[in-house]
Amino acid sequence: MAQNGKPRLRSQAWWDNPDNPGMTALYLERYLNYGLTREELQSGKPIIGIAQTGSDLSPCNRHHIELAERVRAGIRDAGGIPFEFPVHPIQETGKRPTAALDRNLAYLGLVEVLYGYPIDGVVLTTGCDKTTPAMLMGAATVNIPAIVLSGGPMLDGYFEGELVGSGTVVWEARRRHAAGEITYDQFIDLVSESAPSVGHCNTMGTASSMNAMAEALGMSLPGCAAIPAPYRERGQMAHATGRRIVEMVHEDLRPSGIMTREAFENAIVCASAIGASTNCPIHLNAIARHMGVELTNDDWDAIGYQIPLIVDMMPAGRFLGEGYYRAGGLPAVIAELMRHGKVREDAMTVTGRTVAENNRDARIVDPEVIRSYDKPLMTQAGFAVLKGTLFDSAIMKTSVISEDFRKRYLCRPGDENAFEARAIVFDGPEDYHHRINDPELGIDETCVLVIRYCGPVGYPGSAEVVNMLPPDALVREGVSELPCIGDGRQSGTSGSPSILNASPEAAVGGGLAILETGDRIRIDLNRRSADILLPEEELEARRKALKLPDFVNQTPWQEIYRNHVGQLAEGGVLENAVKYQRIDERFGIA
Ligand code: FES
Ligand code: MG
Repeated sequence: MAQNGKPRLRSQAWWDNPDNPGMTALYLERYLNYGLTREELQSGKPIIGIAQTGSDLSPCNRHHIELAERVRAGIRDAGGIPFEFPVHPIQETGKRPTAALDRNLAYLGLVEVLYGYPIDGVVLTTGCDKTTPAMLMGAATVNIPAIVLSGGPMLDGYFEGELVGSGTVVWEARRRHAAGEITYDQFIDLVSESAPSVGHCNTMGTASSMNAMAEALGMSLPGCAAIPAPYRERGQMAHATGRRIVEMVHEDLRPSGIMTREAFENAIVCASAIGASTNCPIHLNAIARHMGVELTNDDWDAIGYQIPLIVDMMPAGRFLGEGYYRAGGLPAVIAELMRHGKVREDAMTVTGRTVAENNRDARIVDPEVIRSYDKPLMTQAGFAVLKGTLFDSAIMKTSVISEDFRKRYLCRPGDENAFEARAIVFDGPEDYHHRINDPELGIDETCVLVIRYCGPVGYPGSAEVVNMLPPDALVREGVSELPCIGDGRQSGTSGSPSILNASPEAAVGGGLAILETGDRIRIDLNRRSADILLPEEELEARRKALKLPDFVNQTPWQEIYRNHVGQLAEGGVLENAVKYQRIDERFGIA
């Protein structure tokens, strides 16, 4: 039924159904009780949800509480009606045992809200690491018009005149504390200086990476991701985003028209160019699965590995969010990638225009921070995807491998990209902290540190613990990093060259479960292999004898999660949720 010359919106099934006055009255009356009018709700104006991820529990996103006022104004100005609602909090640094456990819970909550309430379109407020993928996964599943509003990074942090980046500084502070260079109080002061304002991490950690991914996918307005949280442009972007979602509802522009295979390929290319977090393949693969787009870790290697790193931002480089924004942000990166034919230019975006139309005219303003494609910080900045007897799939961010590391491990004459090492195996972070300084282990600068039972099922949720510091004695000798392998994740703010996200994880019987301290392993980056150097008969005997530890659930959700979660290589999604793709089409909720 048409209304005001426009197609009838799904919200009108709640607000205006003369065939069922009883239900209509019940739906209407309670929403009138705070001052909305029947005239407004029956006017045929789009109802726009604002998925609010900010709260006192979620400081990285808390700024969205204020930004929502500008979103509401934009929605009203464009003729819509805003309905703000809370999202289950996901705070990267505050949630035990890990925020990763809650990504899928927030996803489930968002799906229920978008499906079950009279919402015609939604503004997804994003910021801290998992909030962005949780929102995009939910939007993919329900497939009503949706647009991302990033909260933006914090201002740049300084300590004693030097830039200090959130997250990244913690690794440096830990090293200095372990080496006895700073006290406990100095440790905390140093880290606090990296967080000088509202906003999410100011490094190219998982938050800045995932907000860039949302923009690269075409799901936010161009330029949205990089604007620092306190800048006036952030509030203006909030207003423009509110306006635009109303138009998107009238245009019926849905996630399925934007998050196509081409869009994901653009996101992969951008991920390499910006030096994105190792969490991005997990989250993008998860969003793709809920969208029904084919995407695997192998695509990340095939499409992204060769792309150079052109953004000089911590942890791979020197600068932080403000410098990146002033240099041009993601539009400048996309334009530079376009000039070298690396962008799927026709991919549609929330503007109703293509990625090429949105970004073609963007320019690099500060070539110190955003390099040209021909003068990158590093060539081949993407993720190498490894497989072998240790796991079926794991990723390595080769762009953060230091020269010192290459000298010790990789650049051996005749075999430049392969190394063998003696494995030291830890069963989770507690075991690591307990035993890392045990002299009995005989850890030297040619060992590899392995951590297991840290994946989605093992932890649960998958822990950011793979980047392990060497024993204090080695650090004091100047060996600040050893290669690390694990079935957990690594903080996007860490510059460690670890092999991560190993799938299948040890907790479900993956290859790491049969590894023993003292085994030799071989990593070959050219062949993309990672193997235990033992005869197959020995490996088979160990597999047969393997007895997995018991995993204890502390909450009901942990049990539900463990029973349904898949592996990190496949996005770590609730496997039984994947079949509910495009609910709009399946149940005619449009
Ligand atoms: Fe929330 Fe980094 S901890 S963005
Ligand atoms: Mg993190």
